[in-house]
Amino acid sequence: MNAKQLATIRDEFPVLQRTVHDQPLIYLDNAATSQKPKAMIEGMLDYYTYHNANSHRGVHQLALESTEAFEAVRGQIADWLQVQTNEIIFNSGTTEGINAIAFGLGLSVLEPGDKIFLTQLEHHANLVPWQEVAKLTGAEIVFMPVDPQTYVIDLQGVAKILDQSVKIVATHHVSNVIGVQQPINELSKIIREYTNAHIIIDGAQSVSHLKLNLKNLDIDAYCFSAHKMYGPTGLGIMYINERIHQDMAPFKYGGEMINQVDDFSSNYKVSPWKYEGGTQPIAEVVSFGKTLDYLSQLPMDELWEHEQALTDRLIHQLSAMDGVSIYQDISQETHGIVSYNIEAIHPHDAATAYDLEGIAIRAGHHCAQPLMRILNVPATLRASISFYNTVEEIDYFVQVTKRIKEFFEHGFRK
Ligand code: ALA
Repeated sequence: MNAKQLATIRDEFPVLQRTVHDQPLIYLDNAATSQKPKAMIEGMLDYYTYHNANSHRGVHQLALESTEAFEAVRGQIADWLQVQTNEIIFNSGTTEGINAIAFGLGLSVLEPGDKIFLTQLEHHANLVPWQEVAKLTGAEIVFMPVDPQTYVIDLQGVAKILDQSVKIVATHHVSNVIGVQQPINELSKIIREYTNAHIIIDGAQSVSHLKLNLKNLDIDAYCFSAHKMYGPTGLGIMYINERIHQDMAPFKYGGEMINQVDDFSSNYKVSPWKYEGGTQPIAEVVSFGKTLDYLSQLPMDELWEHEQALTDRLIHQLSAMDGVSIYQDISQETHGIVSYNIEAIHPHDAATAYDLEGIAIRAGHHCAQPLMRILNVPATLRASISFYNTVEEIDYFVQVTKRIKEFFEHGFRK
């Protein structure tokens, strides 16, 4: 990716042109949410300006246009993930997706004594819903072992503790804190060999960094949020493998998801519509389609290589600095995520100091408190990279890190 090509891409993301505290913005909080291309922003404006109507509900022209545009995006997403259109379900985000599966599937398949396999690396969104479902069903949560150096799931360790009582296996694909990628293919092979468990993947941090073929992963469900993939907030996408449509009940009941409503009972449409009660985030879906159109024109493989090169550059420069602790195995690809701390500086103070230099990063526990306990820290700094970041931004970020360290150690130097 040469500088000219990258500049052309950056021009498509208007916010990257702004300044913060009189400094050019350096946006390194992409794991929290990515920035938006003009195509998406203009797509949303166009939808509200010329086409707005509730989808699936009217026979008038606007309603038909809205429905057609909405359903076309379902097809685009199915193509992107290499699955069937009836396996793509819209909701409000990864959190709602995992809740829908935990309550819609978990309550149907779990019985007292059954096991839910998770890891201690999960974002709270892939832990707390299972805790609640475990309480309601009498199932038990068991944490799969991970390698203590790399944090990769220990597949042999998992094989040793698998039995027929494992009904759900739910894990992140890429960790939102340490960027480690889990070997989902190999994991699903082991799970299928020993059990009939359903395999649920939190894809929030993998979808924008990896070329995906969900059929090849041999999983039952995969959830992500459009806003982490250059799309709008308020839109989640859930892949539910057709083979579990029978087992998984709807999570939201109401308008448009029904076939027939009698006074005391109802029956429901087939997937995807049975999982989509209520008015959908139509403008968000339509504008996410514009994001996908835009991404489809980009050399994504090259861009993913570029962001991995930036990530490696940042990790290696930070790990060479005295007094900086990196919380990940630097021999692994970490998909745009760098978690670290600067000795004796509270992460929130450091994040504020970066902000004064126009740099946006995240500080905190990143909604992963069990992992923080394993790392033995209350919080970390997290810089997260997208393909629109540049080598110059990374090098400037490292210089600012050195300045912040000196400032907190010695105060201002004249
Ligand atoms: N889950 C998002 C993050 O890790 C918000 O920052």
